[in-house]
Amino acid sequence: MTPPYILAIDQGTTSSRALIVDRTGAIVGLGQQPLTQYYPQPGWVEHDPEEIWTTTLDAIGVALAQAGLAFGDLACIGLTNQRETAVVWERATGAPVHRAIVWQDRRTAGICEDVRSAGEEERVRQATGLTLDPYFTGTKLTWLFRHDPELHRQARLGEICAGTVDAWLIWKLTGGASFLTDFTNASRTLLFNVKRGRWDDGLLDLFEVPRAALPAAAPSQSRFGFTSEEQFGSRVPITGAAGDQQAALFGQGGFAPGVAKNTYGTGCFLLSNAGRKAAVPETGLLLSLGAGAGPQGPEYVIEGSVFVAGALVQWMRDELGLIAQSADIEPLAASVPDTAGVVIVPAFTGLGAPDWDPHARGAILGLTRGVTKAHLARAALEAIALSSAELIEVMNESLPEPIRELRVDGGAAVNDLLMQLQADFAGIPVLRPQSTETTALGAAYLAGLTAGIWSSIDEVAELWRPERVFEPRLGSAERHRRLREWRRAVERTLGWAAS
Ligand code: G3P
Repeated sequence: MTPPYILAIDQGTTSSRALIVDRTGAIVGLGQQPLTQYYPQPGWVEHDPEEIWTTTLDAIGVALAQAGLAFGDLACIGLTNQRETAVVWERATGAPVHRAIVWQDRRTAGICEDVRSAGEEERVRQATGLTLDPYFTGTKLTWLFRHDPELHRQARLGEICAGTVDAWLIWKLTGGASFLTDFTNASRTLLFNVKRGRWDDGLLDLFEVPRAALPAAAPSQSRFGFTSEEQFGSRVPITGAAGDQQAALFGQGGFAPGVAKNTYGTGCFLLSNAGRKAAVPETGLLLSLGAGAGPQGPEYVIEGSVFVAGALVQWMRDELGLIAQSADIEPLAASVPDTAGVVIVPAFTGLGAPDWDPHARGAILGLTRGVTKAHLARAALEAIALSSAELIEVMNESLPEPIRELRVDGGAAVNDLLMQLQADFAGIPVLRPQSTETTALGAAYLAGLTAGIWSSIDEVAELWRPERVFEPRLGSAERHRRLREWRRAVERTLGWAAS
């Protein structure tokens, strides 16, 4: 253990985590607490904001105990979080007024349709870099305020705070002293102009969100305030904050254009550093702000979000009973040389990039009598790899130079067969780092750079080391045939559930 120590808080969709990171980038303590998921209606997903906070506190306690440290031993704090999820609370008391509406929640599909019908889609896209989809924060706030006109009135008077999870946790950590969000989180709200780097008054009007309810936005490497002495016994500075996908790109050393990372979790998030030029892709990908954005200028990332990846393996485990544990998918899939022509499109909740179709639904195509569960397992891993490989092709159209290598992280990155399939279908090397905790490391690096623990990006870049490189083995003709087959299958699922 090499002091000083940084606390990295990683508040995710299914759990709250805390990691203690030392000067060498080593993780010397880790705490994790699961978070309850509420599904009040089909397509709705909610979290309890108080539980987001208490699980975070519990995780911090476990991480500190594991490291044998006290809170006062921490040099600084870096925060990273599930993005887009909307939290609303009372400014005077700090009490949440509604459950948090989670990024996966689809209840605002109708609001998105209305805004699209009003001809506003292009204006929204050009200002925010985002597409009109219930995924993002803006329409979740529209829904909350339409649902409760009194809340809307209070919000206009500045009595209500509305923000993403970073703003909520910064507020709680500082005992209500700081009401701040960071640029990367702000850039996922549909309310933030990513070209100007500020809230967009026209969009606030369009989505009926009062400016008085929103936090001030600051670069990811900023001083966001100090922890409340009353609660923690010490004033530790919060010196970094970023949405989890941008933090992961930073933790993967994605400091310059050309570096791309893919995170394999419930879904897959492919992000590439796009430099300082704000060009909104025409291809169904998103433009957002990166964690390197600062007073010296913006940094943009291009993102492709796939809603279902690991969730497909979970479905095979929990609903089909094909495997007992998620890890069993790898030997089962490896027991056959191919999928026997089966293609699975896991469009359980519609499709994200590049199709953005809330009405698409999943399909299994190419079934014959000889298909076994091993073929289905292999088709599941191929589906995850093919959806990301297609996004890499699409992303290359928006980048000055094609992506040359892919850095990977997230739970399923430990699956060697999946990583080999990814290299094969993408046609580029896949690099798995020694530490796949890149999200938390990204937050720690941001905080440590601001606090002066590391003096430059170059110093941080040296902490990244590959554990294994997967080289592509598929010929170009076969790779393209598989990508075309994938596209043909995806197109069969589009619009399936449209009434
Ligand atoms: O955009 C959603 C993303 O930030 C959620 O990430 O890791 O909490 O599933 P995760």
